[in-house]
Formats: sequence, C-alpha cells, structure tokens
Amino acid sequence: MNARIVLLPGDGIGPEVIDAAAAVLQRVAERFGHTFVFTEHLIGGSALADGRPSLPPETLNAAREAQAVLLGAVGDPEFDHLPPAQRPEAGLLALRRGLGVYANLRPARAWKGLEGASPLKPDVLRGTDMIVVRELAGGLYYGEPRGHSPDGSSAVNTLVYSRDEVTRIARVAFELARCRRKSLVSVDKANVLEVSRLWRDAVIEVGRDYSDVKLTHEYVDAAAMKLALTPAAFDVIRTENMFGDILSDEAGAICGSLGLLPSASLGPGPGLFEPVHGSAPTLADRNLANPIGAILSGAMLLADGLHLRSEAQTVVDAVERAIRAGHRTADLTQTGPSIGTSEMTAAILGEL
Ligand code: IPM
Ligand code: MG
Repeated sequence: MNARIVLLPGDGIGPEVIDAAAAVLQRVAERFGHTFVFTEHLIGGSALADGRPSLPPETLNAAREAQAVLLGAVGDPEFDHLPPAQRPEAGLLALRRGLGVYANLRPARAWKGLEGASPLKPDVLRGTDMIVVRELAGGLYYGEPRGHSPDGSSAVNTLVYSRDEVTRIARVAFELARCRRKSLVSVDKANVLEVSRLWRDAVIEVGRDYSDVKLTHEYVDAAAMKLALTPAAFDVIRTENMFGDILSDEAGAICGSLGLLPSASLGPGPGLFEPVHGSAPTLADRNLANPIGAILSGAMLLADGLHLRSEAQTVVDAVERAIRAGHRTADLTQTGPSIGTSEMTAAILGEL
C-alpha cells in the first residue's frame, strides 16, 4: 500500500511522541512492504508562534488530502491569556470540524504488568477493557451563541444536538459493541437536561436495530463513580463531547496513566489519530513523555485509517511485550527505575 500520512506534531510533548509514532509506522511499512509518505505541518501554538493562525489553511488542505492524520498535542501556556477562539486549542477544534470527524474512539484497558501504576486495587482493575465513544463534532464545544456579554458581566455557551448527530454516534457505538462484549452504556444527564433526553430517546430508538446488544443508561455523575468502583463492568461507553472529554481522562488514569491512551476520530473522510494526553508542557523537551499513547494511536491509524488490521496488531503486541519486559516511563512507576521517551520507543521498535 502507498499512503500519505500527515503528521501534526503540535505543542509541548507532541513533537517527541510523534517522532516515536512515526518511527514505529516507518518500521511497520518496511516490514510489511508498504510505502508511507509523511509530511509535517503546523497546528496550535507552534503555528501561532510562527505568526500563523492556529489551523493554517495549508494544514487543513494537506489533512483533507491525506489518507490519515496523526496529531501529537496542542496547548501552550504562553497563549493561556487569550480568548478561546485565539488559543492553540481552537486549531484542533477547527481541524476536527474541517475533517468532519464526529466519532472519537478512546480505548482504555488494564495492561498486564502495569497493575501497580493504577490508583485502583489490582482486583478492582482486573479485566478492565473499555472504549469511550465520544461525540466529537457538536455539543458545548461548537454550540452557538457563545461568548461574553459586551460589558463582561456574563458569558454563554450553548449545548445543542440534533437528532441526526445523536443517532449517527449511537450507530457507531452499537456497531463497536456488536464486535466486542455486546454491552453499551449510554451516558447522559437526562434527569436535568433536555439535550440528554433527546440523547437517550434517540439511542433507545437506534437500539431496536441492535437487539443483540444490551443497552443501559447512566447519568454522568454515576458513570464517573462506577468507572472508579467497577471499571471492568464497562464495555462500550457512548457519550457527548464534553462528558466524553472528562470521562476519558478518568478512564486513562484508572488504567495507570493518561500517557497510555490512544484515540481515533472518524468521519466520512480521512481519520484523525491522536494520543489523549495533551501537550504536558512541563514534560516537553525533556525525554520524559510516554510515547505509548501516540504509538497506539499509530496502531489505530493502521487499523481504522488504512484498514491494515494485522499490521496494527503487531504494534499492539510489541507494546504489550515491551511493557511485560519491564520497560517503564516515569508516569508508569512511582518507585522503580524509569526510562525516557526515546528508550521506550527503542524498546518497542526492538519488539517489532
Ligand atoms: C482532548 C483534549 C481537547 C478536547 C482539547 C485540547 C481541546 O482535552 O482531546 O481530550 O477538549 O477535546
Ligand atoms: Mg481531554
């Protein structure tokens, strides 16, 4: 296969983890006889620092023309004082919108050997293997009207979802559940919010086409609690944009480190693949970042972006073996010795 892959390293630890993931993808290409052509573009704070908008038009164009997009992270404290629309994060939101990616898949699982990295007791964590299906193109992140009143005495954001938006993400979640343990938890706040009522009614309706999948509903506060108490009970979690942002960080922490979590954002065009961890500015340029979230995002790129499923599986297996061999970045061990980003990457490449 020949594939054009756009790399968007972005900010903070983004460039380091994208280097790692690109090296892994390159190794996979060599091993399986594929040709991946990588091009790199600016986004987020790195674009702003260059005097460009947070999503330069050529970045969006390149992403649209690629087979898949691999993004590191956006966010830079240097721009914290700016209003949301001018911050690095606006570039990521515009990219998601520009690519039309609405289904954000965030798998989180317990890894053999990493039990000690989790804040939970090993017997609570055991068997945890879930996927958060986060709606990514709507809700509070994009709703209009938004902004401050002219005198600054109030501010507004709008939570709005159409039935179509709610239905299409429900279908993604049911399809996934069907290929897994056939259990879907739909998370909402239907005891308070009209939007959540729509969310719940629509998923029940879609569920009539998926009678093999067991559908349950949780209010978001109860879901957050149960994630910490009985994480292994969850299979597929389907939720709206803001709740999904929050619950996926919790899922990452439960499994040992947010640094492990990959994601795939899918829509009608090229997929966008990014680790969930963010730019972690205090770790940047210090060879401290965990590259596994980005490398596993590369695996999702292979599987969901390029439909190279066995190639993807070899990457996941290599990560698994590197962990089992005892390699740990600093986020994965409180007391034991740790290695840096480049050493962890080399260990995984070695297992490939
Ligand atoms: C994430 C991040 C982003 C989000 C930020 C950086 C805009 O937290 O991907 O979870 O809120 O979606
Ligand atoms: Mg987040």
